[in-house]
Amino acid sequence: MAIETIKWVRGRIRIIDQTKLPNKFEYIYCRDLETLWQAIKRLSVRGAPAIGVAAAFGVLLGIQGFKGKDKLKFLDLFYKTCGYLATSRPTAVNLFNMLNEMRDVVAHNPNADVGSLKKLLFKKAMAIFKADQDVCRRMGEHGAKLVKNAMQCLTICNAGALATVDYGTALGVFYSAKKQGKNFSVYSCETRPLLQGARLTCWELLREKIDTTLICDNMAASLMACGQVDIIFTGADRIASNGDTANKIGTYMLAVLAKHHGIPFYIVAPRSSFDLAIKSGKRIPIEERKSEEVTHFAGVAVAPRGVKVYNPAFDVTPAKLITGIVTEYGIIRPPYMKNIKGMIG
Ligand code: MRU
Repeated sequence: MAIETIKWVRGRIRIIDQTKLPNKFEYIYCRDLETLWQAIKRLSVRGAPAIGVAAAFGVLLGIQGFKGKDKLKFLDLFYKTCGYLATSRPTAVNLFNMLNEMRDVVAHNPNADVGSLKKLLFKKAMAIFKADQDVCRRMGEHGAKLVKNAMQCLTICNAGALATVDYGTALGVFYSAKKQGKNFSVYSCETRPLLQGARLTCWELLREKIDTTLICDNMAASLMACGQVDIIFTGADRIASNGDTANKIGTYMLAVLAKHHGIPFYIVAPRSSFDLAIKSGKRIPIEERKSEEVTHFAGVAVAPRGVKVYNPAFDVTPAKLITGIVTEYGIIRPPYMKNIKGMIG
């Protein structure tokens, strides 16, 4: 694959600047917390699992300059760092789950001194990084069983290597199916307004020589009606305990269409994308982003100045529209409340 979306490199976080793709491949080196926070906010690093890893590494950035042995002062800095990172984006629960994993390190080692805590937190962040590589490959293996020869698949946004450490969730299914020698093709929805599908998914899939066709989001219904879509795979930003799933805006629309046309609709997401503290999707906070993302295209206005804009970045697909959820442990099928608990709870 050789796409290294995020990496800890000698005290800095190196990320691929996804706002520049596909025209330029550039790294950003985050040496301080503010640079990382801005990179998450403007989607230079994006995708739920990648944001989770960024948060864990962000904690290391926040504490690495701490000098001395005063544990109270260290803990004050540590918790402030976690709190600050948590304000970068609200929907992907991976961010909060990974910050909680870092907080647990401190909570479970009450007698550790500052030096030991720093080492333990470093070890934890590296484990989070490695776990993402591993779970994506496991999800890929499970999901690839659903891909048959000659299938025409459809996806939205980017749930690929660029949304994780280096492999992907929904796109990981395609990478694993390709490795198994299966022949299939993929429709990538462009994903307005920020075009993660056109810019990122197409870039990734073409690199892997997967037969890929770009469509505008509003072409999906007509494709399905013509029998040109056999199966749909998307990622997730937060899955409630009843299976309701938040993902990139437009996902719900695809799920409704899939139901109408009798097309299987799968979510591919790791344990770290589940929020078992909430009962349903009604409690998922949906990020609203600035109006310029809709009124402008590549810096050029495409709408009259002053028009009102609504720009939610995510929508929630009700569990009843989801055929299955592919996780690192296997595929969860309805009834979700019971089966999510059984597989990952
Ligand atoms: O706003 P983004 O680009 O961060 O949104 C990303 C998505 O919606 C992805 O589908 C989701 O995070 C899953 S990525 C494996």
